[in-house]
Amino acid sequence: MEVVLTGITTTGAPHIGNYVGAIRPAVAASHRDDVGAYYFLADYHSLVKGSDPAKVAQSTLEIAASWLAAGLNPDSVFYRQSDVPEIPELAWILTCMTAKGLMNRAHAYKAAVDENEARGNRDPDQGIMMGLFCYPILMAADILMFNAHKVPVGKDQIQHVEMARDIAQRFNHHFGETFVLPEAQVGENIAVLPGLDGRKMSKSYDNTIPLFIDEKKLRKLIMKIKTNSQEPGEPKDPDDSALFSIYAAFATPEETAAMRERYAEGIAWGEMKQTLFEYINAHLAKPREEYQRLLAAPDHVEAVLRQGAERAREISAPFMAEIRDAVGIRALG
Ligand code: TRP
Repeated sequence: MEVVLTGITTTGAPHIGNYVGAIRPAVAASHRDDVGAYYFLADYHSLVKGSDPAKVAQSTLEIAASWLAAGLNPDSVFYRQSDVPEIPELAWILTCMTAKGLMNRAHAYKAAVDENEARGNRDPDQGIMMGLFCYPILMAADILMFNAHKVPVGKDQIQHVEMARDIAQRFNHHFGETFVLPEAQVGENIAVLPGLDGRKMSKSYDNTIPLFIDEKKLRKLIMKIKTNSQEPGEPKDPDDSALFSIYAAFATPEETAAMRERYAEGIAWGEMKQTLFEYINAHLAKPREEYQRLLAAPDHVEAVLRQGAERAREISAPFMAEIRDAVGIRALG
């Protein structure tokens, strides 16, 4: 069976761009019976960002609750990285056989170095932690631990998956066929949502619509989405409209086609905003309720994650024993 695996860094709560780009397709895949789906909360990865402990914990709860509320198949393997000790164990073994030069080329590290250079810092590595530098190795361990074939990720993560593949190849070459070579899966017809200001919706632009924000705030944010100064009745270009793109990401193809018509007829921006709000609100009302219920029941979420970890460890514990043996960490005699 094809194994599909992806990790979610536990920083902040998801926004509707994350929902459309990652959560919704992952939830759909979790209901297919021809794929083995592994989804996990990458809480060790979140430490790289140096966030404060309370935020790490709160974000873990919010993200777990979001995925469950969005309809994740309870039969998929949904776990917290830190509940699977074989992952950091494998990460160390991989660290010992990964060229430093490979890590030097990682985009996130290079961006941090560039920033230091742009600031005129004498030390190009100033303030850069080993966690950031080795981040792709931990990610490789996440992926290789479960012999994932496909790794659905955003474009910014393709390089990391390719590095995991390189690392796996090198391991297999030295120690014998052990790991499946993973491939990044970048959704082609998956929408990249614009944010409030029309740029890509992203936490770093502070232009997001949080997924399970309450109804009143959702309305307020949608009313803030940028439009142009065209008057009601003037034909409008749907392909240059953040409101339309967001609508299209939620609506059916028929509804989207009908909305194109209304743009041609000159729908007023105010009306479009109200329509978009009502549409998204109707779509999210039920999962939002479930989300609130889960947030209020952290023990339940904890139990779900523990159960997921148990299932993950049924795979990782025996596989880790094989890996240890392959590298010569063995019982004596
Ligand atoms: N680095 C990924 C991100 O920032 C999260 C992640 C961690 C991940 N481990 C992974 C994704 C393994 C896919 C597979 O989005």
